[in-house]
Amino acid sequence: MFRKNIAGVDTIRNIIVRSNSYTGKWVLGKETCNSRSFSTMTQLLTKTTGQEKATHADSETAPKTAQLLAKQDKYTLNTYARPPIIFSHGKGCRVYDLAEREYLDFTAGIAVNALGHSDPEVAHVISEQANKLVHLSNLYHNEHAGELAEYLVESTRAGGGFEASKVFFTNSGTEANEGALKFARKWGKFYGKKGINDGSVNTEKFGVISFSNAFHGRSFGALSATPTKKYQSPFTPMLPGFVSAPFNDLNKINEFVNDTTCAVIVEPIQGEGGVWEASVPFLESLRKRCDDVGALLIFDEIQCGLGRTGKLWAHQNFPKSCHPDILTMAKPLANGFPIGAIMISKRVADIIVIGDHGTTFGGSPLACKVALNVASRINTPKLLENVNNVSGYLFSSFERISKKFPSLISTIRGKGLIIGIQFTRDPSPLLKLARERGLLIITAGNDTIRIVPPLILNKEEAKKGIEILEECIEIFNEQS
Ligand SMILES: Cc1ncc(COP(=O)(O)O)c(C=O)c1O
Repeated sequence: MFRKNIAGVDTIRNIIVRSNSYTGKWVLGKETCNSRSFSTMTQLLTKTTGQEKATHADSETAPKTAQLLAKQDKYTLNTYARPPIIFSHGKGCRVYDLAEREYLDFTAGIAVNALGHSDPEVAHVISEQANKLVHLSNLYHNEHAGELAEYLVESTRAGGGFEASKVFFTNSGTEANEGALKFARKWGKFYGKKGINDGSVNTEKFGVISFSNAFHGRSFGALSATPTKKYQSPFTPMLPGFVSAPFNDLNKINEFVNDTTCAVIVEPIQGEGGVWEASVPFLESLRKRCDDVGALLIFDEIQCGLGRTGKLWAHQNFPKSCHPDILTMAKPLANGFPIGAIMISKRVADIIVIGDHGTTFGGSPLACKVALNVASRINTPKLLENVNNVSGYLFSSFERISKKFPSLISTIRGKGLIIGIQFTRDPSPLLKLARERGLLIITAGNDTIRIVPPLILNKEEAKKGIEILEECIEIFNEQS
C-alpha cells in the first residue's frame, strides 16, 4: 500500500515515476524498483508499459529493413511520418513485414482493400486483363468502361440510391472531386441564378461550399474545398469562390449557400475529419437549399461509399429528400488498383459535351475490368450483411471498452465499418502500441482513432483486434 506519492516525479517518455515513501522504492503503475538509475527506470518503464509484450517491436525488424529504409530515404521525397518497417505481402485481413511478422489490418489501406489483401479473383482478373489490354487512352472505346458504368448506374438506382445517369472515370478520389467541381462550375455558367438557363453565360455563379472537417483531396480544387488549415496554409491562396461552412449546422445553410453558389460538396460521413455523420435534417436542408438557388449537391463517398456503411452507398442510409446530383467514389472501387469515378444525374450529364474534360489513364480496360469484379462482389447481400454483423460486434465492444475508460474515451461514432473512437487526449501513441502487438489502426480528425478494416473482416478477426486494442488502451491509460 502506498501511503502517499511524495515529490519524486520523474518523467521518462512522458511516464510519471513516483517514489513510495513507505517502502522507499520507486514505483510506476504496479511495478517497483530500488534504484533510480536511468537504465533501471527504463526497464521499469518497459515493464509497466507492457513493452515486453510487444511481439512486433519496431526495433526488431529484419536486417534488410534498415538498409532498405536508409536507401529509400535518400531518394524518396517523404511527406508521411512512417514507422520503420516495410510490408511485403498480405492475405485477407492480414499483412506481413519483411521480418515475416503478421499484422491484423484495421486500416485496409485507408478504407481501400474492401475485399482484403491478395484477393485471388482480383489477382486473376488483373493478370488476365493485363495479358489482353492494359491501356488504350480515351481516344478509343474499350470493352470494360461501359460495362462498369452500366453496373454502377443500374445498381445505384436499383438499390434506392440517387437518380444516377452517367459515369466519368478518373484515377483517384481527388481527381473525381476535381472533375465534379469542374462540372459544377460549368453548371453555374450554364444555368445561372436560380438554375434557369436563359441562353446567357453566367459568370457570377461559381461559389463552392464545403464544410468544417471535410477532406476532399490535395489538388487545388479539392484542397480549396478542404478547409483544414495545416493542409491549405503552405499553399495559399486557394481557388476563388470556395467557402467553408459549419458541418451539420442547419442555421447557417442559407447564409452560406446563395444565388452565387454552383455547388455544395459534402461527405455523408466525414472520414479523415474524424468520422462525423451528417444528420438527416442537415442533408435535407442542403438538398432543399441547393434546389432553391439552383446549385448542385455533390456527395463525396470516396471513403464512406461502396459497402463501408453496410449499404452500397452511404447516401442510401438517408431518405431520397437528401440525395445528390453528383457522387464521387474511388478508394475500394478496384480494391487497391487505382480508379475513381464521378457519377452524375441526367441534368448534369446534359450540360457536359465533348472536350469539356479528359484524362489519359482514367477508364482503362484494366482498371475497369478489376473494378467491375470488385464492385459487384462488394454489392452482394452476403458481404453487406457481414459488414453489418461485424460492425454490431465492434460497436458493442467499443461501447464496453469506453465504459471501462470513461475519462479516456468519450464517444463511439460511425456506421458499418467506418468507426471513430473519440479520446479525450491525443491517442496517437496507440498506433505504435497496437502495431507493436500486431494490429494496424489509424487516427482521424481530433483525438480520434479510426477503424476502417477490410469489409471481409470476420468475427474472430474482429475479436482478436479488439483484444489487442483493449490491452493497448489499458497501457495507454496507465501512461496518463
Ligand atoms: C472523403 C475523401 N475524399 C477524397 C479523398 C482523396 O482521395 P484520393 O486520395 O484517392 O485522391 C479522400 C482520401 O482520403 C477521402 O477520404
